[in-house]
Amino acid sequence: MKFFIDTANIEEIKEAKSLGMVDGVTTNPSLIAREKKSFEAVVKEILKVIDGPVSLEVMSLDVDGMFKEGKKLMKLGDQVVIKVPMTMDGLKATRRFAAEGIPVNQTLIFSPLQALMAAKAGAAYASPFVGRLDDIAHDGMALVEQILTIYDQYGYDTEVIVASVRHPGHVLEAAMMGADIATIPFKVIQQLAQHPLTDRGVDTFLADWKKVPKK
Ligand code: E4P
Repeated sequence: MKFFIDTANIEEIKEAKSLGMVDGVTTNPSLIAREKKSFEAVVKEILKVIDGPVSLEVMSLDVDGMFKEGKKLMKLGDQVVIKVPMTMDGLKATRRFAAEGIPVNQTLIFSPLQALMAAKAGAAYASPFVGRLDDIAHDGMALVEQILTIYDQYGYDTEVIVASVRHPGHVLEAAMMGADIATIPFKVIQQLAQHPLTDRGVDTFLADWKKVPKK
């Protein structure tokens, strides 16, 4: 299972990379805005430290605009993946990018049929947003299960990125289901490593070690 990190913050990316937990990066306009730097400055820093796929989102809403923007983004680095929203124009853009061998991450997927269309259009990745579905009392991980079943049934090689991850439970379920990738916020990556019994065990061993006679 691949772990992508869902952030545009270079310190978080570097820290997660030092743990060996970054196979790729996903950004979005909201994450970029949090950095209070220009898009170019943020992306340059990320591409310098990451070799794996880095998703950068197009902001145009029409197919020609998306295509033009995507082609420009591709020039920034070989590892760039064009993030395209799951709209009618987005599907057309995906089809055009795929015809040129340009990888697309079809984003903002909230239904299995949207994911099926993304795969048919030739997207390299499909991103179902599980947390945002949970927020409106739907079952985000049930969507992932449906998408995996459909892709498996027809042999699509579009990789499923479990996105909008809010807690370790999402990552666990994604792993149990065999999702290709989870894109995880840094805070949740930290949570994955933590367990109160590990902390208590470390404290006990330290305390007991002090009781060992020095000679
Ligand atoms: C995915 O690529 C998105 O960047 C992300 O997972 C959105 O998550 P959010 O719902 O926490 O904004």
